[in-house]
Amino acid sequence: MSVAQRKDDHIAQCLRDPAIDRSASGFDSITLAHRALPEIDFDKVDTSITFLGKKLSFPFMLSSMTGGTSKETVTINQNLAKAAEECKVALAVGSQRVMFEDKKAEKSFRLREFAPSVPLIANLGAVQLNYGFGIEECRKAVKVLDADALFLHLNPLQEVIQKGGDRNFEYLADKIKSVRTKLEVPLMIKETGCGLSEADYRLLINCGIRYIDVAGRGGTSWSRIEHLCNKDDSNLGLAFQDWGLTTVETLEQAKPFRNQLFLIAGGGIRSGIDLAKAMSLGASMGSAALPFLKAALESKDAVVKLIEEYREQFKVALFLTGHKNCKDER
Ligand SMILES: Cc1cc2nc3c(=O)[nH]c(=O)nc-3n(C[C@H](O)[C@H](O)[C@H](O)COP(=O)(O)O)c2cc1C
Repeated sequence: MSVAQRKDDHIAQCLRDPAIDRSASGFDSITLAHRALPEIDFDKVDTSITFLGKKLSFPFMLSSMTGGTSKETVTINQNLAKAAEECKVALAVGSQRVMFEDKKAEKSFRLREFAPSVPLIANLGAVQLNYGFGIEECRKAVKVLDADALFLHLNPLQEVIQKGGDRNFEYLADKIKSVRTKLEVPLMIKETGCGLSEADYRLLINCGIRYIDVAGRGGTSWSRIEHLCNKDDSNLGLAFQDWGLTTVETLEQAKPFRNQLFLIAGGGIRSGIDLAKAMSLGASMGSAALPFLKAALESKDAVVKLIEEYREQFKVALFLTGHKNCKDER
């Protein structure tokens, strides 16, 4: 199966099976301290932050999803880009490996004209560094998107469950470090729904990495998606569908490194309230993918509506916890 066909299959499964969203990131168990006397004017609450030198209306990123040769992938990415621009949030694209297999897929990643002023983040699988990819492919991914940074994603569980997946994760830290030192834009790391442990954070800091999207467990389950795509009688993907550290747990693992890392809380962020909770655990920003997939297929306006819901909820949560802004000022 080509990479482009596989990407389309992933999207079809995500739209078909509601149980891919595991709804268990750990945020329900967190209660933020409510301020009955916040001593703040709600209209003066400032949700903006600066990310990669650009101003965002609130600390939020539409997380990496797709790209490819089909009409749907082009529509999804263009709607996400237009909505990101209108709402002033960051946008990360899905893996760009597909455009190295089929040049036609580049079109789905040429998004700068739709999002001229917001941070755009390119994306490749870190494991591809063990399968022939290197600094030139990383540079090309950045160039096609005109990106502000590059995400290398970590997805060992997905690769193990996927038929014919790339399973050699040996010596990747050294290769990540080498790309980081050569690349002209910041190199960022993300998981894809299982989180990272304390040892991973330490290794990545030693590679000189500063930005990490923790993408913990509890939202999209890639093990379940690959299980559904495999269409065979193995239950391995189902057995591991709830594997990993929840987003709350992985943020706790990052606690010793909070002042060395810019943490983006991904994985099951389903509201602006989840985002506020993640920031109370040390994240500087949040991201979400799956909730925006259906909206992006529908229209730019559907994506805008959902982002605005997150932003409004986040602003109310800041107000009710006695915060005037995202800098922790009270
Ligand atoms: C349809 C879909 C496609 C995805 N493709 C990629 C990808 O190509 N590269 C990547 O780094 N993450 C990919 N992800 C993972 C997301 O970026 C995100 O880390 C993960 O889904 C957790 O966030 P969520 O629970 O809000 O979906 C994808 C997620 C979805 C739903």
